[in-house]
Amino acid sequence: MSGLAERRILLGVTGGIAAYKAAEFTRLLTKAGAQVRVVMTRAAQDFVGPLTFQALSGEKVHTDLLDPDAEAAMGHIELARWADLVIVAPASADCIARLAHGHADDLLTTICLATESPLAVAPAMNQVMWAHPATAENVERLRTRGVTILGPASGDQACGETGSGRMREPAELLGDCTELLGPRLLAGQHVLITAGPTREALDPVRYLSNHSSGRMGFAIAASAARAGARVTLVSGPVERSTPAGVERIDVDSARAMQTAVETHIDAADIFIATAAVADYRPSEVAERKIKKGDEDGRTLALARNPDILAAVCARSPRPYCVGFAAETDAVAENAQAKRRSKGADLICANTVGAGIGFGDVESTLELFDDHGSVRLGPADKETLARELIGAIAERLSAPSREQRNETP
Ligand code: C5P
Repeated sequence: MSGLAERRILLGVTGGIAAYKAAEFTRLLTKAGAQVRVVMTRAAQDFVGPLTFQALSGEKVHTDLLDPDAEAAMGHIELARWADLVIVAPASADCIARLAHGHADDLLTTICLATESPLAVAPAMNQVMWAHPATAENVERLRTRGVTILGPASGDQACGETGSGRMREPAELLGDCTELLGPRLLAGQHVLITAGPTREALDPVRYLSNHSSGRMGFAIAASAARAGARVTLVSGPVERSTPAGVERIDVDSARAMQTAVETHIDAADIFIATAAVADYRPSEVAERKIKKGDEDGRTLALARNPDILAAVCARSPRPYCVGFAAETDAVAENAQAKRRSKGADLICANTVGAGIGFGDVESTLELFDDHGSVRLGPADKETLARELIGAIAERLSAPSREQRNETP
């Protein structure tokens, strides 16, 4: 039986071309056994008719706040109480702005304000509108209030542009709902995660770093928090908003990251190292800006940085340790060798090379542990993060090899 069977989902549909995908989403939800009630804004009805959603959900579609007949059947407060989850998909820029400011001037925004159930929104808009500081501020407001922001994805847009702002695909949204309503797989666990790049100072204005975006680590942190864990995220310098319910500690260098990890590791049950930690740092940091001279070249002396993951794995007692490995070839051999050399419980390998692995919309992860390997994806990083959290929870709940050997 699916995790969505008998669950009550209120789907809000707002005005945007992605409204047609909400029809497919409704079909997938009902197929998974969920009870779906659809609320449409006026603009949404310009894109898809209520009859489509009525046929797919098997329920009357709600469109008006002040319709006496509809209110008599199931009023807006009743609808808000009825839902186990309210999800707005697609959520237009205008709807996000109105939710951020607590408006209640139509049925959907009123329900969003009146519900005590989890609220999730799947933004869908033109990429310039998504990137606009006004939208970014509104999204951040919702996030800090505990609203789950699902996506958006990037790619081709209906307006002919390419970029971030596409609604997540219906099948992905179905997975998101399962996670939001499913068993809290990591309830009671404390997860410590490293993410992003590190910056190794050369002088007061220069540093050595890398292109890590932190997206995977932040997605894992969000997913772990949704799975009920207490999450501490130690992040190198990235421009990302902190996922709801996550405690974030910002650091710059590898050594600062190690200090932050050491401060929190004793309380952690699970350690997930996604950070792209610089292997080396300049041996000396100049106090003043280094001036150029007449010489043609210069040699930079580098010192080895601590291996944060290996140091955590060497502790006793220690949390369940998960590392990442970016491999160009012989993925299985290299990943297993890395797992053994660091002493990690699980290594997640992603294949990288020209054009693959960095900032890709879709990628795969291959998980290696004592028992062999399993492949996740291809999928976007948010979906991979959710599946990884599921895989970790499964491994933690399964008896360990020693425990199994002890069983008569
Ligand atoms: O040795 P390599 O950099 O390939 O190992 C990658 C894994 O080890 C990642 O999980 C990364 O976060 C972690 N790591 C670390 N400290 C380092 C280098 C890597 O925690 N100095």
